[in-house]
Parts: sequence; C-alpha cells; structure tokens
Amino acid sequence: MHRKWWQDTIIYQVYLRSFKDTNNNGIGDLQGVVEKLDYLKALGVDTLWISPHYDSPMDDNGYDVRHFQKVSDDYGTLEDFKTLVNEAHQREMRIVTDLVLNHTSDEHPWFEAAKDPSHPDHEQYHDYYIWHEGHTNEEGERVMPTRWRSWFGGPVWEYNEATDSYYLHIFSKKMPDLNWRNAAMRAELKAMIQWWIDLGVDGFRIDASNHIEKNWDFPDDYPGYHHFSSLPKHHDYLSELGEELFIPNDLLILGESGGASKEEALQYAGFDSTEFNMLIHFGHVWADIDPHNEQTPGKWAKGKTNLVAIKEALAHWINVFHGKGWNTLYWHNHDHPRVVSHYGNDDILWHEKSAKMLAVMLYLLPGTPIVYQGEEIGMTNVDYTELSDFRDVEVFTEYENFMRLGTSHEVAMQALRDRARDNARSPMQWDTTLHAGFSEHPPWMKVNQNFPLINVKLQQRDPNSIWSLYQQLLQLRKTEQLSDALPTFYLLEDPNLVVYHTQGAHHDYVVSLNFQGFACDSKDVIDVSDYELYYTNEPHSHEGKLQPYEARIYRRSRP
Ligand code: GLC
Repeated sequence: MHRKWWQDTIIYQVYLRSFKDTNNNGIGDLQGVVEKLDYLKALGVDTLWISPHYDSPMDDNGYDVRHFQKVSDDYGTLEDFKTLVNEAHQREMRIVTDLVLNHTSDEHPWFEAAKDPSHPDHEQYHDYYIWHEGHTNEEGERVMPTRWRSWFGGPVWEYNEATDSYYLHIFSKKMPDLNWRNAAMRAELKAMIQWWIDLGVDGFRIDASNHIEKNWDFPDDYPGYHHFSSLPKHHDYLSELGEELFIPNDLLILGESGGASKEEALQYAGFDSTEFNMLIHFGHVWADIDPHNEQTPGKWAKGKTNLVAIKEALAHWINVFHGKGWNTLYWHNHDHPRVVSHYGNDDILWHEKSAKMLAVMLYLLPGTPIVYQGEEIGMTNVDYTELSDFRDVEVFTEYENFMRLGTSHEVAMQALRDRARDNARSPMQWDTTLHAGFSEHPPWMKVNQNFPLINVKLQQRDPNSIWSLYQQLLQLRKTEQLSDALPTFYLLEDPNLVVYHTQGAHHDYVVSLNFQGFACDSKDVIDVSDYELYYTNEPHSHEGKLQPYEARIYRRSRP
C-alpha cells in the first residue's frame, strides 16, 4: 500500500459544544474551532475530528441528527463549516467529521413520516426504521417484543400509538434505529455522504458502526446486546460505503467498534480492507470494572485499575495491526472519564506528574494518536455535586436505574463523578478569566472549578507543563517516525511498571515508568548504560527506584 497521509498525522478530537464559544451563547461553535486552529497547529495537531455538527434537538448532544445536511444553529452555519474546512486546509490541516448512520433523531423528517400513518410520505418512510408489534403474554397483556436493553439503560423498544407498534432504539428513545436492510434508505444516506465529501471533508468517524445490522428474528434474551452488535452483515454495508464513497475519495475512515476479534479487526481496518482505515477498539478503556458491585453495576462499577490488562490491550492491538493494518492510539474520547482521573491521580499533589506519566506511556507507541480535547492540559473529571449539574441523557436513565436497585443518592453521585460521559465534556479550560475563557456567557454545562490551576494559558508559558510535554512528544513522533515502529514490551505481567523499547529513525528509546502512586523498584530489565536520560517528570530521581508516577525516556543514537 502507498503511504497514506493519515499514517503520519496527529488527530485531535474536538467536542464542539465545549471547545470554544465565539458568539457568547454559552455553547461552543464552529467559529470557535476556526479561532483555535493556530493553537492546535502549535500543539502539533494536523487533523481534527469534530463531534456531530448537524441540526439536532440535542437529546444526545448531536448524535441525534434531525437534518443531515444542515448545521446546528447552536454551532453556526454552513458558511462557518466551509470556512473551517478552508482555513484548516490553508494550514495544511484536515477535517474529519462524525457520521451518525445507526439512527436519526425522532424529529428527523423520515421518522416524522414513519411514525404517522396519516403522513403523506408514511408508506415511503415507515420501513426506514425497525418496527415490531410486540407480543401478548399469558395474562393477555401487550408486552414488548424482547427484553433487549439499550446502551443508555432501559428497554430498546418504545411504543408508538399511531401505528400501534414498537420502534427499536438501542440508544435513547429519541434516537430510533435505521433499517439498513432498506436499500432506498441506504441510497439516501450515500447521497448525503457524497454531499459532505463535495464540501471538502477529509474523512469521517463512523459512529456506532458495528450496530447497524440487527437480528431480525428478535430472540427474547436479556440484555440481548449480541443481537444488535457486530452481526456479519454490517460488514457488507460498511464495504458498500467504502467501495462507493470512501476509497474513491481517499478519505480517512475511523470506525467505532468495540470488542472485535483479531480477524474481525483486520476485516475492518487491514490495509486491504474496504471498510475503515483505523479502528476505535476500546481495548484499554474500562480496565477497572468491579464485577461484584451490584449498586452501580456495569461500567459504573469502579474497581482497582488493572495495569496488566491495559498493557496487554495496547500490545495486542499493536501486534494485530503491525504490517497488516494501522493502529490508533488514544486514552479516551467523549464517552469516557478523563484519563488523568481514571488511570492517573487528579489530586493536586499528583495531577501534573501522573498526567505526564500517562502521556509518556502512550505517545511513543506506534499508530496514529488521537488526543482528546483538554487532555493536553490534564483536564480532570467534573466536580459536580448536584444531579442537575449533569447534562448527559445517559446519566438520567442510569440514575433511575441505580435508584431502582436501592442505591443511595451519594453512592450514585460518586459513580457519576467517576464514570459519566459528562466528565469529558465540561468546557475547555483556556485561561483564568470568567468561565475559563470558554465563553462570556454561563456555559451550557458548568466549568470545572479547578480552571484557575488547570488551563491552557498557564501551561503554554511553562516549558515544563503537561501541555509542553504533549507538544514535545507529538513533535518527537514525527521527527523519529515512531508511528511505524514495533516496540518490545517488557514486564507485561508486572502490575506496577511499564517498560518498552522502541526504535525511532535516529534513536533507540526505552520508556520506563511507574504507573502507581508509590515508589517501586525499577527492575532494570534493559541495560541503559549507553543511553542518555532524555526525559523524566521526576526532579528527585533515585537510582534503582521509580518514584510515584515517575516516567523516564532514555535514548541513544542509532548506528
Ligand atoms: C457513539 C458516540 C456516543 C453516542 C452514541 C450514539 O458511541 O460516541 O457519544 O451517544 O454513539 O450515537
């Protein structure tokens, strides 16, 4: 395969709603991204992945699309979008947008027609969605077709009186799932995608891509996730898009699909795949779930972090894709807690050091990095004390679920502060002015009160800040072509340390770090006597010991 531009790029994920507000309505907007392009360029970023910018009632912050070819009034106009693409291209930067194809908003004109038999276009659109009449139980009552559970908690079925039937929604009830078996629906989606390609976008991130096919036998299992996840036919649909739209236009396609086996991952994103170029695989993301917690179960159950599992996941994906496809490197996205709170330590004492340790751990590895907005300054989980401080639709369905389980309000609130997606969505902390420089208007979601200490302005002036380290590491990746290397991991079974060796274009590197908040014996498994200490985040390094969250990079010139 010819080398592709996205193999050497650095991606930055912009969560539009919380990035930068320029019209002072408290909501981030497209002009805000334009305003910060130079900031991103200075950080070392070349490609932006932007969360959905489409017209939407914002039940799920834009992942519920009401009109695919309109820009949300919250975010600006189509002209603003064109300006963004144009300004990015002038700086040799690229724009990747989110493509939500599994569902629409229930306010999308297709669904308005589909749900209403008196609508003139009902016949045409009814079959664009997934309907079922339900069953009658032994007591003669009408019951839902299955007990499948939605990703946001609660059932996947919602009753629609006008058709006297249920529609399927695997996310919120305001997000009905599209019927991908309907060729007319697919044709309309493809025309829409072509329209964005013609506007100059450089790629797409395909949302919820492994869910687009369902088991139409509708077996009555609980929770039934496997009946709407990774079914073989979804690959056909993705290939259809790839062959007709993505490959001919040389786009970067980033697919969101968790839980793929090695074979399936290569089917998605091997070099000869017609589906994606890169996979968002979630391998390392929830390595701290306590399976015994019944008060806040599932991803909400925070347990001890399993470093071995994280290392294995990173090493696994590197090996799967080496020479056969392309790896993605990311700590988290807008659906997860902030990494410094999740896997580091956001206590004031350790915040900076652990954020730097995490950066060193990930960003010398091969593949294309995706830095999530605010990660470059170590933004932390939210400090919210009221349920009403949260904004995410998932928070409210799950809170109700916790209450049904008899969980106390305090325990539920702590689970939300630890795990909710809102943790990654609080407004970007630019400076120490009101609302952290995000907006002059009270933001749509509360700013984290730690912004006077954690903000871009402060860190950009400090050569030793987390921001400066990100800048340095992103630059290093490029000059050393670290994206292509095949690292060797050591001590994979060690619960505390991360050690690997990798080869750059000019130097050999050894990364050695302590993931824990206590000092550890450094177990010198690699002889670094002819290496120089290129970087450490620890001013008081001791021979033989790695201090809490200490990260070291050694290097030596290559012959
Ligand atoms: C993806 C998105 C998430 C969204 C969901 C439904 O997982 O990342 O934010 O809620 O799909 O579109």
